[in-house]
Amino acid sequence: MENIKWIKVESPEEGAKKVFTLISEELQNNRLHVLGLATGSTMIPVYNEWTNSTLDFSNVTAFNLDEYVGIAADNPNSYAYFMNEHLFSKKPFKETHIPNGMAEDLDEECKEYENQLNAHPLDIQLLGVGENGHIAFNEPGTPFDSVTHVATLTDSTLGVNSQYFENDDKIPNIALTMGISSITNSKKLIMIAFGEKKRAAMEKLKAGEVTAEWPITKLLRHDDVVVITDLQID
Ligand code: GLP
Repeated sequence: MENIKWIKVESPEEGAKKVFTLISEELQNNRLHVLGLATGSTMIPVYNEWTNSTLDFSNVTAFNLDEYVGIAADNPNSYAYFMNEHLFSKKPFKETHIPNGMAEDLDEECKEYENQLNAHPLDIQLLGVGENGHIAFNEPGTPFDSVTHVATLTDSTLGVNSQYFENDDKIPNIALTMGISSITNSKKLIMIAFGEKKRAAMEKLKAGEVTAEWPITKLLRHDDVVVITDLQID
């Protein structure tokens, strides 16, 4: 696909170095003011590269994609905790935003989050992908024009993500997530996918057919996408 630049790497560590290069170029050229961030094991080597570097995010505002409902920021299972542990405690940002899954009025929280995004348009959004092709917590079938909303997680996602849950906490089946439209409004998208479990999603992207059953395929309608993967997709 012409809108997608595919970068094949040999390992997650090499992939993380590619992300580092892209991000540092954008920072140096003064093109990165608002950065969309993601969670998940894919992002750990990426954030390690950043925290072991002199990259300066002190003028950058960050927005995270999603958060579980009912898990507090000081709980190790929350995405807020993940971000703090892997990045924010080590690299200062100008501002950081993560949807508040403890908000009393979840719909209002989503509305406010989307307003914040509109006030700070994303320059770059980092993305991982679920095994079922979800981006953030936009599960198969989510409308492409969706904005930040309360999402119900599929059994497949609950099964995959529950392996990361600690302390006998039960994984919530609802989450707050930026919508597909909130994500693809970003000027640039960097999709990162490592390992065989992501092959089906990468193959759908490569095949070039846009379908709501594979939310990742919405990237085919964006004009500036970089995919970094250790999979050879023909
Ligand atoms: C979660 C997140 C997604 C992420 C996915 C993949 O479901 N909501 O944003 O892309 O996990 O996670 P991993 O990188 O651990 O494979």
